Amino acid sequence: MNEVVSASASGKVILFGEHAVVYGRPAIAVPVRQVEARVTIEPARRSAAQTGEQGPRIHAPDLGRTFTVDPADTSNPLIVATVSTLRHLGVGFEHDLLIRIESTIPVGRGLGSSAAVSVALVRAIARYFGVEPLPQEVSRLVYETEIIHHGTPSGIDNTVIAYDQPIYFVREQPTEHFEAGRPLHLVIADTGITTPTHETVGDVRAGWQRDPATYEALFDEIGRIVDAARVAIAEGDLVEVGRLMDENHARLRRLDVSSAELDHLVYAARGAGAMGAKMSGGGRGGNIVAVAMPWAVEGVVAALRRAGAAMVIETVVNQAETQGN
Ligand code: PMV
Repeated sequence: MNEVVSASASGKVILFGEHAVVYGRPAIAVPVRQVEARVTIEPARRSAAQTGEQGPRIHAPDLGRTFTVDPADTSNPLIVATVSTLRHLGVGFEHDLLIRIESTIPVGRGLGSSAAVSVALVRAIARYFGVEPLPQEVSRLVYETEIIHHGTPSGIDNTVIAYDQPIYFVREQPTEHFEAGRPLHLVIADTGITTPTHETVGDVRAGWQRDPATYEALFDEIGRIVDAARVAIAEGDLVEVGRLMDENHARLRRLDVSSAELDHLVYAARGAGAMGAKMSGGGRGGNIVAVAMPWAVEGVVAALRRAGAAMVIETVVNQAETQGN
């Protein structure tokens, strides 16, 4: 219990179904292992001035913050994740731990930064006390922190990151893992713009309240696209996967969660030979995702850089990681 332990968690990207997933429709998301959050825990060595303090201390250099965990603070997701994990393990708060949090996942860009930090935190605390928690336990604990970040999260981020597997997700239903018939080469490109997810989720909710019939019809269309995409991915039909991405992007535009910058990157990817492209996540900023044949990936990456992307990530959803689930 007195050694140094660490745990990590990947980023994620939503391939299909964002926003409609909040209203009970399915969505597809995959881990993005090229970026990660990492948490390291060691016994704290307090200075003389700190001897009166007790309990876990969190050091987050990327956020420029160091603080002692106050179990009464229910507004800080890092504290909530720490407190609920210790409670879940049946461990008291008296342990003097130094918890160091680092992440290469850009914040507020739809790559799951908040959920990944919490997943790594839950895993590291459990590991420190000799427990390897199940993905569903991690996911449930992290969902509580997602509520603080996002208000009414569907739960897709904590689920895909805790399971570390491609998922077909429907709110409050058992998670399913989908199978890829052929490796899926993805290119993810960042607009460099941060837009809080709760803002676009709130705007969609306001629109849905104003005109439920139109929004429900759009959500249904997105749900059908997601189901068709699941089949196309399983069959390795990348032309169809790309076409469905384009269809999904058109519906997200109608929900008014895209932006000129997102559309610009989507068109750049398509123009460079991607099979299809769409915005991903909450929208108005953050990332787009494109699917490309392996030989076209380099050209798509170059085009997205030329189009001004702040960051470009290549990732592959392999057959191997979806087999046997
Ligand atoms: O966290 P983001 O930006 O990837 O967005 C999550 C996806 C939404 O469907 C917009 C919200 C949700 O809770 O599912």
